[in-house]
Amino acid sequence: MTTTAAREHWSSRIGFILVAAGSAVGLGNIWKFPFEAGSNGGGAFLIIYLAIVFSIGLAVMTAEILIGRTAQRNPAGALKLLKGGPWPAVGYLGILTAFVILSFYVVVAGWTVAYIVKLISGTISGSDPDALGAAFGGFIGDPVEPVLYAAFFMAVTAAVVISGVRRGIERAGRVLMPLLFLIIVLLAVRAMTLPGAAEGLAFFLQPDFSAVTTGTVVAALGTAFFSLSLGMGTMITYGSYLKPTENVPSAALSVVVLDTSVAVLAGLAILPAVFAFGADPAAGPGLTFITLPGVFAQMPGGAWLGPLFFVLLAIAALTSAVSIMEPVTAYLIDELSIDRRTATLGVAGAAFLLSIPSSLSMGLWADYTLFGKGFLDLMDFLATNITLPLGGLLISVFAGWIAHDRLCSELNGPDGGVRRFTHVWAILVKFVAPAAIAIILIDGLTG
Ligand code: TRP
Repeated sequence: MTTTAAREHWSSRIGFILVAAGSAVGLGNIWKFPFEAGSNGGGAFLIIYLAIVFSIGLAVMTAEILIGRTAQRNPAGALKLLKGGPWPAVGYLGILTAFVILSFYVVVAGWTVAYIVKLISGTISGSDPDALGAAFGGFIGDPVEPVLYAAFFMAVTAAVVISGVRRGIERAGRVLMPLLFLIIVLLAVRAMTLPGAAEGLAFFLQPDFSAVTTGTVVAALGTAFFSLSLGMGTMITYGSYLKPTENVPSAALSVVVLDTSVAVLAGLAILPAVFAFGADPAAGPGLTFITLPGVFAQMPGGAWLGPLFFVLLAIAALTSAVSIMEPVTAYLIDELSIDRRTATLGVAGAAFLLSIPSSLSMGLWADYTLFGKGFLDLMDFLATNITLPLGGLLISVFAGWIAHDRLCSELNGPDGGVRRFTHVWAILVKFVAPAAIAIILIDGLTG
């Protein structure tokens, strides 16, 4: 078994914050958040989302990073070390979830790469929603092309993970995250200065609480968990590469602030533009691939802003995909003493095999459904609505009740510096987070 002494660590605190933010900022923020806000009452959704992220989200983020930093192990190994008994099963559940999420995440990520190519080459152009919808449907339904893009994306992800904690993951984060911020700020400024943007801004920022239902709160909670990369041990794994002296709550807060800023910036980049060109903000998942290319086609500078938007998505997706692959790889390295290269190639290869039915479910295999869902939707549903919230619930219970004393003393450090935070954190992980997550879980199962 690999000893703690041999474990690689992030080179600095800022390195950790960038990789953790790189994990959190992904398709969830830029693809999902704006359309969730768009179809759940705009500003009201935003307020509920912010409240959740800075209470429950921050608490569970702190719990995961702290578990990892304390144990210096992958999710299953960490829970085994800290408690044992049935608890490592939560880690195995996370590893399984990671595998499933990775398989469909690279399919959608592959679409973003394809759209960079298609917008630049002009294969996709114009602003007619029907034509754009048909082009998107035709592309994702093709049996070969999107599978190749998924394979490409998986290969790039594996290349980063193979290079290791510092030379691979941290270096990617240091280069790509600042670039991502630059692009999204540029796009937000462009969108907000369009004539007619004010209506979209008002929609996004002015809360309409009459549109709020329990469904809104559940959607905000689910989106928050997915967006913060919580519930499957990504943050446990990244925390395990932190030196034991790092201050966890302040690092967790930085990650939450960065992730939320990007989600808000994505809303500011997308919703004003959608309103300015009279498109439908509640278009749902098709907002990114059907509505936005049409919006860009009509926008001054759209010819290069369109491809740039998809570059942004691809970057965000890459640093997230890396963080979905790493917990599985870390498990194989820590627990089964497999070397990093073999472990990564094995994970990437096996997850890619599972990507194939996901991709084919958009066309050739669209008729094979279970519970009315195709394969990709089914994998997404299983992970996002069931195993992620279940994992988050169990991790909160673990931090709040099972390993609470140990984690609290780790949180306080020798100087007892963050004791006030510790009390609030304890209440959140003991009661508030488990109760709230149980609600999403039940709703997710019945809805
Ligand atoms: N947070 C990423 C996004 O917003 C996706 C992601 C990466 C993730 N790692 C995760 C989601 C772990 C859940 C759990 O797209």
